[in-house]
Amino acid sequence: MCSRAQAAGTGAGSGPFQVGLLGHGTVGSAFAQLLEERAEEIERFNGRRPVISGVLTRAQGSFEEILSDADLLVELIGGIEPAREYLLRAIAAGKDVVSANKQLLSQHGEELFEAAREHRVRLRFEAAVAGVVPVVRVLEESLSATPIERIHGIVNGTTNFILSEMARGSTYAEALAQAQRSGYAEADPSDDVSGRDAAAKMAILARLAFGTPVHLNQVRYEGIEHLQGDDLQYARELGLGLKLIGTAERRGGGLSVRVHPAFLYAGHPLASVSGPYNAVTVESETITEITMSGPGAGGRQTASAVLGDVVSVMLPVAAPRAPVSRLALVEDVESAFYVHMEVADRPGVLGAVTQALGERGVSIKSVLQRGMGENARLVMVTHLALESSLNAAIERVGQFDFLRSAPRMIRVIEEEFT
Ligand SMILES: NC(=O)c1ccc[n+]([C@@H]2O[C@H](COP(=O)([O-])OP(=O)(O)OC[C@H]3O[C@@H](n4cnc5c(N)ncnc54)[C@H](OP(=O)(O)O)[C@@H]3O)[C@@H](O)[C@H]2O)c1
Repeated sequence: MCSRAQAAGTGAGSGPFQVGLLGHGTVGSAFAQLLEERAEEIERFNGRRPVISGVLTRAQGSFEEILSDADLLVELIGGIEPAREYLLRAIAAGKDVVSANKQLLSQHGEELFEAAREHRVRLRFEAAVAGVVPVVRVLEESLSATPIERIHGIVNGTTNFILSEMARGSTYAEALAQAQRSGYAEADPSDDVSGRDAAAKMAILARLAFGTPVHLNQVRYEGIEHLQGDDLQYARELGLGLKLIGTAERRGGGLSVRVHPAFLYAGHPLASVSGPYNAVTVESETITEITMSGPGAGGRQTASAVLGDVVSVMLPVAAPRAPVSRLALVEDVESAFYVHMEVADRPGVLGAVTQALGERGVSIKSVLQRGMGENARLVMVTHLALESSLNAAIERVGQFDFLRSAPRMIRVIEEEFT
């Protein structure tokens, strides 16, 4: 087995730097091509030329041979098994590893991080979180001494594309079909539109930023399937834009990690991120706010983040982020809310709703009313309220006979940095 001293010196060895490649699909094949294109330049500043020493797919290659030949393994198979087993075996053999596998890291991250710590190897995963946006590197290195308060992320390019199309007037179904035609959404888009893909990425980011292990099962997520075109129209009138936002933040001495659609005011740095892009905002008292954005996916773009990880392993070891105390996970958090109701157009409706909300500690910041015969629309944005209070208020409102359909609510992110 290779010791950390040897592993740390992988970049300083002699001869080509052998990269074993597990998986040769969309990202794996783009990575192999990019590595070949960039090998000469990497050798110029790193002293060693990276080469692919072996490729494993279902149809070709032997894992044992690839493992024994490689200085480093790149896992681009995806899913849990056999990716998990291969990574653990590589780590146990003292090999540094790079992976783009958010499913695996969000569900078995602790096992992998612990194994990497025990065997003193590096586990890099920039491409697993926000496409090409170098947020992992920034959190691990540039901000390693900064106490982070909050991370907001648009970490799923597919849903951001769909919401951008809806903001231009498309229905959800039209926007999804357009995303599929443009190659931004899979034939089965459920992982993306349900928010689960974003939740996996937020679990990884939260662990990194707050030093607290977070499993995908602990991230509450809500997708975009239920959103209606008129939510976006009303929101525009209220000066708001709609995004699928992942949040990891300190709340009441604990940590809240969640993903849900949220309205943003125009001054928020994520409000202007549209199309299949990703962006992450890191907030801390010391730095105020940093926003990074870039393409969210795509074979060549993702491959470029993977290659960045490979090159970073070839360089001397960077200090890991300082350990942070573990935080308890918090579920009931305060937020402002957009609430949309279809109601009978009769006197006293607004008063009854306002009173029901007020009795449960929810106060209203702005209201739009549209009368349409028997069916009127009541759209309001609340001040900060606990999610449990808002739910209780909505339950009460749901009992009024003037309500024509179930109220819809979407969180509103209030922070602005202008
Ligand atoms: N695509 C993106 O834009 C993107 C963006 C960010 C992160 N990622 C992540 O990157 C990883 C790879 O994604 P991808 O889109 O490149 O996937 P993909 O196109 O489906 O490729 C998967 C590759 O893994 C191989 N493979 C599957 N099961 C295997 C097994 N049991 N043993 C050995 N090889 C096996 C496949 O081999 P066969 O060819 O024999 O089937 C194929 O070469 C995933 O973790 C994904 O989440 C992808």
